[in-house]
Amino acid sequence: MITTWDDPIASIKRLKIESAVAPQPVVEQVLAKLDTMNNDSLSKPAATTPASIPGQKAGEDGQGGITGLEEVEFGADRVSVDDKQMINCRADVNQLVPFKYKWAWQKYLDACANHWMPQEINMTADISLWKNPDGLTEDERTIIKRNLGFFTSADSLVANNLVLAVYRHITNPECRQYLLRQAFEEALHTHAYQYCVESLGLDEAEVFNMYREIPSIHDKAAWAMRFTQSLGDPTFHTGTPATDQRLLRDLIAFYIVFEGIFFYVGFVQILSMGRRNKMMGCAEQFQYILRDESMHMNFGIDVINQIKIENPHLWTPAFQQEIITMLREAVELETRYAYDSMPRGVLGLNANVFEDYLKFIANRRCAQIGLAEQYSGAANPFPWMSEVMDLKKEKNFFETRVTEYQTGGTLSWD
Ligand SMILES: [Fe+2]
Ligand SMILES: [Fe+2]
Repeated sequence: MITTWDDPIASIKRLKIESAVAPQPVVEQVLAKLDTMNNDSLSKPAATTPASIPGQKAGEDGQGGITGLEEVEFGADRVSVDDKQMINCRADVNQLVPFKYKWAWQKYLDACANHWMPQEINMTADISLWKNPDGLTEDERTIIKRNLGFFTSADSLVANNLVLAVYRHITNPECRQYLLRQAFEEALHTHAYQYCVESLGLDEAEVFNMYREIPSIHDKAAWAMRFTQSLGDPTFHTGTPATDQRLLRDLIAFYIVFEGIFFYVGFVQILSMGRRNKMMGCAEQFQYILRDESMHMNFGIDVINQIKIENPHLWTPAFQQEIITMLREAVELETRYAYDSMPRGVLGLNANVFEDYLKFIANRRCAQIGLAEQYSGAANPFPWMSEVMDLKKEKNFFETRVTEYQTGGTLSWD
């Protein structure tokens, strides 16, 4: 028998002919499997096999794409780039390459290059400032506690949305690779907030329950939870215009609103504190988190826009109006959070300034997903925020020291 060592399918086909008279037991199993395959499954891309109804595209039967948990189809043709789609794809999602969305892989590599751990950041100055009765004003303490209260649960909500709702429906392996990295980063963020809470000796129950006890925090969390719940339903599948819009709505709710608007009052407040040489350990934690979050949001924007390109029928005028309403609700909720966390002017900031800032950000988010800007004339009162996001890991934003990086290491600060 001639073997074709690098082409197992050709070898099996040949085996089938050569074994026709006296098949061996193992060969019988292989042949039985081959016989159950679609007649031409060895010559057509696997991606097209399930969509056998003429004119029907993958996913239009309402069953969405594959999850990666299907039986491993022996002898299926290899995946080609053209088989790959962001949603409702029927090509094997367990094969990372060939890449279709090289930007997703690049974001995964960039995220890994930005790796950091909360314990790397020195919290000793924050601890002594917090414990000094004259170290901070009550308004400054409120800002720290409110933001730790919001973010401790917010990052858990984002992580839940990724792994329990979104991941199953994104049918592209390079994007899934980034989602896995993002999920780990969300765990790091929750870890960082917990590390701040523990370092400062805050009342854990008070902080971790704020999303159920402080109205302005509760309302943001409750607003987002609806979207995760919608997709988290185990019977939910994409594959119809209505269900595909449901996925798109969730992606916009989390990447554009939650990570793209709801985080920004807190980021500005804590980083403003650091710029005034107060709570610089917490500020540095937030600085690294902000850099991660801006990448999460940019990844989400790319995914959303790619889904729009591949499924232009989803982006109806009614759906666009619904998204605009969501963005306007988000600006109202985040403005309320600004007033609640900052009832008086503090750190050279006041809640009025945040109203402008949130409108400016909402305009940017609209433009990033192809919607008209909603707030004409809104200007950015915090241009320094973009410098923070662009920062390289090696140099601390506050220029107090160079941050060392140790893979898997924990630095000692005694
Ligand atoms: Fe996060
Ligand atoms: Fe995030």
